[in-house]
Amino acid sequence: MSEYVIRGGFPLAGEIDVSGAKNGALPLLFASVVADGACTYYHVPDIGDVRLALRILSEMGARVTRHDAHTVTVNARYLSPEAIPRHLTAGMRASSYLLGACLGRFGYAAEPLTGGCDFGNRPLNCHYGVFHALGAVGEGELHAPPGGLRGGTYDFPQVSVGATVNGIFAACRTHGVTHLHHCATESHVGDLIRFLNLLGADIRGGGTPDLVIRGRSDLGHTSFVVSPDEIEAGTYLLAGVASGGDVTVTGIRPCDLSALTNVLVRTGCLVDSAPDRVRVRRGENFRGVAVETAPAPGFPTDLHPPTVAALCFAAGKSQMTERVWQERFRYTSELAKMGAVFSREGQTLTVHPAPLHAASVTATDLRGGAALAVAALGTAGKTHMTGCELIERGYEDFTGKLRRLGADVSVLPVMSSCASGAGEESSEERQEKDGGDAGAPHGDGEG
Ligand code: EPU
Repeated sequence: MSEYVIRGGFPLAGEIDVSGAKNGALPLLFASVVADGACTYYHVPDIGDVRLALRILSEMGARVTRHDAHTVTVNARYLSPEAIPRHLTAGMRASSYLLGACLGRFGYAAEPLTGGCDFGNRPLNCHYGVFHALGAVGEGELHAPPGGLRGGTYDFPQVSVGATVNGIFAACRTHGVTHLHHCATESHVGDLIRFLNLLGADIRGGGTPDLVIRGRSDLGHTSFVVSPDEIEAGTYLLAGVASGGDVTVTGIRPCDLSALTNVLVRTGCLVDSAPDRVRVRRGENFRGVAVETAPAPGFPTDLHPPTVAALCFAAGKSQMTERVWQERFRYTSELAKMGAVFSREGQTLTVHPAPLHAASVTATDLRGGAALAVAALGTAGKTHMTGCELIERGYEDFTGKLRRLGADVSVLPVMSSCASGAGEESSEERQEKDGGDAGAPHGDGEG
């Protein structure tokens, strides 16, 4: 449990160094399951979801060595695909990556309970579609047929990051050649392909919707640097915009933020880019715009909620059309408690200009929680936010970074003897006590 009090209504200013990407780090960490040797990761974000992923891998028998807050080695040589800690996998969606990774490596996978943000139905039909195209049998429990999986062709009926990752995992150790069409092209899918090729995989077409994967019977060991988190970077830029400020994010490629910065230019914001940084200042005439989310290279759905929060301060109406998640609007009822006025028709939300005021609000999900913070930073008075542990699943040192921009944010001490995860001793924690080397911090990431 985590609660923030944000006193906003004045401009944020300064520079923020961007952490490694949550949605890039998670598939890379689960990719260690398909490797035969140890994988070392640098620039790993120190967030709840990463801590939870490392606990899951550790409980399944992987050796997890945390060198420092942002560097970790995972050796999954002795991981057992049967040993899924369902009480932990239920805390995150990315645990579904165990399906493809275990199927590819062991020819067997059991569906973990998955959780994560609640956007209504989050089906796995495309994941199973690609597994079955490779010859896997079953649902819930998947088995390779006698003789093992074989290369196949699958055309994803829906662009899906998770199903693309799982398809790649299953195919990279499968006999024969696999053709995958309509794959997700998010930059972290490209990173995953580069990582697997460094391990010895043969995956071509990275960065395009069509992948050709020649399966290999073994994959070695390697190291990899997690790319910067464009969603984190975008959130701080939007906090700057909401507060009328001047924020620079560093350690990020401007091209990874172009979908957002193109929108901000249309609102009248001033955007300056250099090779490793982006600076955004709110212009004199900050005006409403229409935005539509889409899979890459479109406007990222994960920036939808903080963008709407910033657009609450624009002159004139704005529109946000959500094309990836049907139910990503739950956060709007919390923003409405702060005076925001919305109307919705189908997948399109209209933001009507209205003055915001401080209120007590609750984070409904990770990015919805970040949106509330963005709105609170632009609003005079003290906003009290509960449910902020959801934000900490995906943003490293969220309140510390906001304070570095001059924000007045305090974290309230929460008196609870049954905080999430308390009382459970992970194998990692046991190994640490036993003098083992699994040194990941104790997870609290079951958001
Ligand atoms: N979909 C299907 N069938 C499937 C899989 C997906 O219909 O078998 C649909 C989903 O219902 C959704 C759309 O396809 O409407 C896209 O889902 P996708 O599979 O791409 O999402 P995901 O892999 O579960 C990842 C991120 C999300 C991000 C989406 C889209 C991780 C751990 N999660 O989810 O991140 O919104 O891709 O970019 O990488 C977040 O960080 O806040 C977050 C929710």
